Amino acid sequence: MKATQFFVSTLKEAPADAEVVSHKLMMRAGFIKRLGAGIYSYMPMGLRVIRKVENIIREEMNRAGAVELLMPIVQPAELWQETGRFETMGPELMRVKDRHERDFVIQPTSEEVITDIARQELRSYRALPKNFYHIQTKFRDERRPRFGVMRGREFTMKDAYSFDRDLESARKSYQGMYDAYVRIFERMGLTFRAVAADTGAIGGDISHEFQVIADTGEDAIVYCPGSDYAANIELAEALAPAAPRAAGAKPLTKTPTPGKSTCEDVAALLGVPLETTVKSLVLATDEKNAAGDVAKTTVWLLLVRGDHALNEVKASKLPGLKEGFRFATVGEIESHFGCKPGYLGPIGLKQPVKIVADRTVAAMSDFICGANESDFHFTGANWGRDLPEPDVVADIRNVVEGDPSPDGRGVLAIQRGIEVGHVFLLGTKYSVAMKATYLDEGGKPQLMQMGCFGIGVTRILGAAIEQNNDERGIIWPASIAPFSVVICPIGYDRSDDVRVAADKLHADLQAIGVDVLLDDRGERPGAMFADWELIGVPHRVVISDRGLKDGKVEYQGRRDAQASTLTLAELLPTLKTKLGA
Ligand SMILES: Nc1ncnc2c1ncn2[C@@H]1O[C@H](COP(=O)(O)OP(=O)(O)O)[C@@H](O)[C@H]1O
Ligand SMILES: [Mg+2]
Repeated sequence: MKATQFFVSTLKEAPADAEVVSHKLMMRAGFIKRLGAGIYSYMPMGLRVIRKVENIIREEMNRAGAVELLMPIVQPAELWQETGRFETMGPELMRVKDRHERDFVIQPTSEEVITDIARQELRSYRALPKNFYHIQTKFRDERRPRFGVMRGREFTMKDAYSFDRDLESARKSYQGMYDAYVRIFERMGLTFRAVAADTGAIGGDISHEFQVIADTGEDAIVYCPGSDYAANIELAEALAPAAPRAAGAKPLTKTPTPGKSTCEDVAALLGVPLETTVKSLVLATDEKNAAGDVAKTTVWLLLVRGDHALNEVKASKLPGLKEGFRFATVGEIESHFGCKPGYLGPIGLKQPVKIVADRTVAAMSDFICGANESDFHFTGANWGRDLPEPDVVADIRNVVEGDPSPDGRGVLAIQRGIEVGHVFLLGTKYSVAMKATYLDEGGKPQLMQMGCFGIGVTRILGAAIEQNNDERGIIWPASIAPFSVVICPIGYDRSDDVRVAADKLHADLQAIGVDVLLDDRGERPGAMFADWELIGVPHRVVISDRGLKDGKVEYQGRRDAQASTLTLAELLPTLKTKLGA
């Protein structure tokens, strides 16, 4: 490929909306072009990387026995109504109408369509197990599209769906996909971790996220350096403190804390550690009668230690909160606590409130909490003495670094990660909703056990760049680089020798199947080198009259500090070795 036939377009400066390094570099290197919020054109250079990513995924999916098909982007609403997701999915689901006012969705994922295919096509146990996948455009009307392709609204995903006759077989399919994902991300040269993930409303089943380690990642991943424990922060369990609650030593004292409504401010004012304070969060749940009207409202007070954060996923699994909760209104707060938000606490309530204490809070003594009176807190509060024991004690907080590992084999550490893949044992959620059954040996209909397996194809570009870059630009892992080798001739249009040598190397590399690009644009050397360093091509060969005079050329790997001089005879064998070609 010659640069003039291809398309190279680089920028000196990244646009102002690019916050993370991968977004900046992808824009500057001309990989993507913004069309709207979270909507990008994949420019020729970027598309080459996408295709390489797709090919690795395709090869490994096929190797694992999955079968490729392609499902439509625009899908009739009927199937989505069958599972209820047309109504229950939030505004992320893009709903559109056709000319006949019929409802459609732009697919954010394809469980409905694939389950519809499976229930028609996989009629007998003999057709199972089966795993279908496609690599297709998705649309999710994300609340906060950002970081370029990392969280787009339109993006490419590989999604696979497994169908099995029973749970045991479904677990095998799941493991097969898990292993394929490990191979896929290893081949892409990424540093990643598979972490146990929350299974949300479905519950009970297994799920893992594949997280590329990067400080800019949106997810917090928790692991134990001394064992193989790894989970995302939603799931990672915070154990109860090992030591029993100490006996209270201080009297309950109403203490003025004027204008100090946060735990941080109160701790600073009183000169005590943040760990002695307790934070109050108020929720409400409504019970409805048969007519659908609210028959009873319960107000909940969730307590976590001042330096801890509430884990909403954990809270939403508690009996009573599982069915859905909302934030309490100011009116409800005032009638139950006799106070406006800011100074709330569990002591001296006006009406019954259901109190859920985090395990850590339940083990505290002499703690500080709001006094349910503006500008006052209680110090020296003690369970059992100053207030009843909590109604519920549960793990409702995020773990923090140094917490004991749930497997008892050390303490937890936390890293940031970018979720590039997600594997999920779905069970029968969709087969029940859509009556996807097969006939067993006895001719009896049985529900299919399903799994779903996603990979964020376009997100991988961002993740790979977050892990591989320097001040000069991108450093592509060899397997997904847009080109493996760039030939930079100096004076291609002026010197016959340079042109002949560059063309020959180009032809030789092409002949052995190397993705090579010859930069015949006639750029100045400095600008030419800067472009290819920005674009991140792993290997560069510079051919100039000065070198050729001595039969030499220059080679530089993208991570090398300096160029090295090679004879023309050494060049091809050296490149072959480096490329593994
Ligand atoms: N808005 C997005 N932009 C780019 N990639 C995405 C986006 N949302 C999801 N992905 C990718 O698709 C994969 C499968 O998606 P899924 O797990 O269903 O999404 P989520 O984790 O957002 O619920 C994710 O692991 C991620 O790599
Ligand atoms: Mg996910």
